[in-house]
Formats: sequence, structure tokens, C-alpha cells
Amino acid sequence: MSLYESAKNLLKAEYEMHRALKFPNPQYAAYIEEKWRHSWQVAGAGNLILKNEPYFQGRDSAFLEKAKTAVLLHDIYRFREARLKFEENKQIDHGLCAAALLKDMPEFNDVLIWLSVKHHGHMIEELYADAEYQALPEGQLKEDVRHIAFLVRDADKIANWQILTNEFDNMRLVWLPFPDDFSEKQASIPSVLWADFCHCKVSDGKFKESNAASLLATFCWLFDINYYSSIVFCKRLNLFEKFYNIFRLVHIHPEKLEQIKQVTREYLFASWAQRGETAC
Ligand SMILES: [Fe+2]
Repeated sequence: MSLYESAKNLLKAEYEMHRALKFPNPQYAAYIEEKWRHSWQVAGAGNLILKNEPYFQGRDSAFLEKAKTAVLLHDIYRFREARLKFEENKQIDHGLCAAALLKDMPEFNDVLIWLSVKHHGHMIEELYADAEYQALPEGQLKEDVRHIAFLVRDADKIANWQILTNEFDNMRLVWLPFPDDFSEKQASIPSVLWADFCHCKVSDGKFKESNAASLLATFCWLFDINYYSSIVFCKRLNLFEKFYNIFRLVHIHPEKLEQIKQVTREYLFASWAQRGETAC
């Protein structure tokens, strides 16, 4: 059986085992279904990046299969995470646990797979500071791990933005701290987050004080997108415009929204102008 077939089987087994567990809270079932769909959406976004991004062009099929496997299995521990949360009220780090799980399985015990997945939910600096990453010799292998980590991170963000903007009515329950409050008070943005956004910085805090804060922190993921192909994909899906519409729904002041658009345009232009195309 190919590596990718084994990966599909593992994902399916985790999903089926966990969806069979019945918890009184309907959020559990919704979460399990969402993570199953999300894994496939991330796989789809990952395939597009693999097809278009120069770093992956001309690479052998064994390498590409490992890259696809890392993408598909990046959230493999999300199902167990949900069970632990609903059963024992226990919080775990699904990226670190996924890396440990994959390392323990002979077919997936490959640094290209488990190390690329390990920090996908953290700031990228945590990968660079990771002892196992630092121990890799400088050269192709380390560069490959870095790029597969970029691939996972970009595909994950695209899929999350896609589901948030396309299915906002359902997803607001998962993504917004106050999903039923669309009053003006939900438009406030803490100054530290606004400063991070204006400096094109990913915010590492959790901003739960208002719906606008939570959404802008999610929009700041833009500054952690690594590939031009990912931006092109976001534009093709019209994700920026859809996000601006959601900002309108939570009553972000029109002037503030214009500033958000301006910062975004300038960032995209500055980051990708050297490609000879404007990404904005
Ligand atoms: Fe994910």
C-alpha cells in the first residue's frame, strides 16, 4: 500500500472511531465532522500549492508523497483532542501530539512528515527553535522540512479562511467569541492587535474580547503566508473580499475597513511585486 493510501486509512480510522462515540454535547459531533472535512480541504489546497510552487517542481514522487501525507495528517490528533476535551476536560497541543503519534508509527516515522506537522499551530519561530529541527544538518533535508512546514501552514490557513467566509452562518458559532451578538460593541479592536496588523505582524495572543478582534487576529495569518501560489489561490477564491464582507457584518467602522484594505494591498504589493505581477 502506498504511503498516501496509509495516510488516508489512518485519517478515516481516527474519524470513524471518534464519530462513533456519543457525547451529550452536540458540539462534539459538529467538531469531529468539521475536522474530517477540514483535513480534505487542506489536502486540496496543499495539492494546488504543490502543483504551482517552484520549490516543489521537478521533485521525485517519494518526496511529494511525503509532503501530501504531512498535509493530510496535520490535524490527525484533533479527533483525540476533542474526545479528551469532552471526556476529561483536558487540553492538549494537537500539533505536538500528532508529531509524537506519527513518529511512533513506522510508516510515518519520517522527519519530513512529523516535524513539518509538529508546530503547524505555533508561530514559525517555534519550529526554528525546535531541538530536533536544529539538530538536522544544514542542507536539503532541513530545507525540505521547512518547506513542507510552509506548505502545511499555508494550506491550513487557506482552508480555514475558506470555510469561515463561505459558511459564516454556521462557522460563526465556532469562530466568534460572541456568535449571536452583532451589536456595535463587537466592533472594537484592541490597540495592541491593531498595531500588530498595521506592522504586518501575526498576533500571537488570543483575542477574544470582541468578534472584530477575533476576526482581525485570524486575518493577520496573512502575514504568515509563505508562497505566492497561496496568495494567488486566495485571490482566485475571492477570500479577501469575502473577509471584508465579514468585517462589515461585525460593524467594523468603514474608515477602519479602508485602512485594513490599504495595509493588505500594500503588504501584498511589497511582498510579491518582485514576481512581476501585482498580487493585490
Ligand atoms: Fe488544520
